[in-house]
Amino acid sequence: MTAGLRVCQVTRLHDPDEETNSTFNVAAADSVSTPGTDSSILFDDATVEPLDISSNGESYIMVVGGAGYIGSHTTLELMKEGFNVVVVDDLSNAYRDVLDRVEFLAAEHRIAIGETVPTLKFHEADYKSPVMRSILDLYALKGAELGTQGAAVSRIRGVIHFAAFKAVEDSINNPIPYYQNNVCGMVNFLALLQEFGIMNFVFSSSATVYGSRANQGHPLREEHCVHEHETFVDDDGVEKQAEPGVFGLTSPYGRTKWMCEAILADVAKSDPRWTITALRYFNPVGCHESGLLGEDPRQKPTNLVPVVLRVLTGANPVLNIFGTDWDTPDGTAIRDFIHVVDLARGHIAALDAAAKGRVRHAFRAYNLGTGTGHTVREVVESIEKASQRTIPVAEVGRRPGDVGFCVAGVNRAEKELGWKTVKTMQDCSTDVWNFTASPSSLSKNFPSRTR
Ligand SMILES: NC(=O)c1ccc[n+]([C@@H]2O[C@H](COP(=O)([O-])OP(=O)(O)OC[C@H]3O[C@@H](n4cnc5c(N)ncnc54)[C@H](O)[C@@H]3O)[C@@H](O)[C@H]2O)c1
Repeated sequence: MTAGLRVCQVTRLHDPDEETNSTFNVAAADSVSTPGTDSSILFDDATVEPLDISSNGESYIMVVGGAGYIGSHTTLELMKEGFNVVVVDDLSNAYRDVLDRVEFLAAEHRIAIGETVPTLKFHEADYKSPVMRSILDLYALKGAELGTQGAAVSRIRGVIHFAAFKAVEDSINNPIPYYQNNVCGMVNFLALLQEFGIMNFVFSSSATVYGSRANQGHPLREEHCVHEHETFVDDDGVEKQAEPGVFGLTSPYGRTKWMCEAILADVAKSDPRWTITALRYFNPVGCHESGLLGEDPRQKPTNLVPVVLRVLTGANPVLNIFGTDWDTPDGTAIRDFIHVVDLARGHIAALDAAAKGRVRHAFRAYNLGTGTGHTVREVVESIEKASQRTIPVAEVGRRPGDVGFCVAGVNRAEKELGWKTVKTMQDCSTDVWNFTASPSSLSKNFPSRTR
């Protein structure tokens, strides 16, 4: 099945007074096929109807940072489910053409299941800039349109906020841009969203908010980091009190995520119209199975899998394994690696649960992980198996601030969002190798990419 040639609208607003509209072509590669989405764990339940945000073709989900690694996969999953999407991204860590691929894959899937193809709009903009007001204004319902979509005052029915700087070590050496982009930017953006009546907000948080609590050797529960007093029953059936606060954060990046969550909790509490969900990602890996979409950052990658791929493609000579003396079966650190497509679908589950009133708190945090840990060595072996190549490694010391064990407790997300992961570590490795080896992928260009 091929989508043929599709046209997607692009709007670039660099300045409120200077708006240009252009179009770009999505050339369909006939040889590429998109496997259909497996039966939906989110929407097959007859009691749960899909979120009513695209019923009349006039409403959108805004994805800020939607050209990035997780944002692009989430945009694709949203479109596959029929949602129109508005992406805002300044391309500081992504390439423009990733959205061509998203549009192509979404169109192919929708045509294969006999459904219409939703709209993808792109605004190349810094979400901190004054131009955001003009962008939101484009989607505001005005005059006679008001009242045509229930109580809504904007065509944007929900925002998923991915845009952030995320390099932990860089944040230690250069913290101010991290606080500016991740914290100040979000506060100003929230004020704007409130003004435009857009109050369903999903935030990309991180397991890093658990700080030194991660090292306790058993899965982390959301109650290990709360922003209000909470009573809960622990895994042994004992009732406990969770105190607001934070323990052992080790980087400015981690602090930005915790600060944003704390701010969001305050904002949600102040006005009942808000529904705010913080999704605490564990270790996102993998990519779309087509080999067309993957992790292709503009900046130097620091996460494990893109670094492994750089070794496989010859851009790096060797993979450094930081710490081989942890109290784990093979001495390397244990992490909860979650396939990015599972993660992407967690965002749809969060939006849906919020829209249905199934999130019974103005602010609610959820772990998005598998609940199962893998050591760094297991990941390397899994990618070696998928690629049929040997990955040269160097054992080096632990990095400051690293923890030996970080695995998600997944009960809350399963129970309240009706979401759980379905993909395995081997799926992750097969898909990233597929992306790396694909003649259509960008990864072959890693070494020659410039800013
Ligand atoms: N990848 C991970 O391991 C991981 C883990 C936990 C949490 N997170 C969080 O998830 C989110 C997405 O991560 P990712 O891995 O996809 O990162 P990414 O860098 O691939 O994506 C972020 C996107 O936001 C854009 N962006 C950054 N600042 C912007 C701005 N001011 N205005 C507009 N666009 C801007 C970038 O160009 C990029 O496309 C981030 O908030 C990150 O902190 C990521």
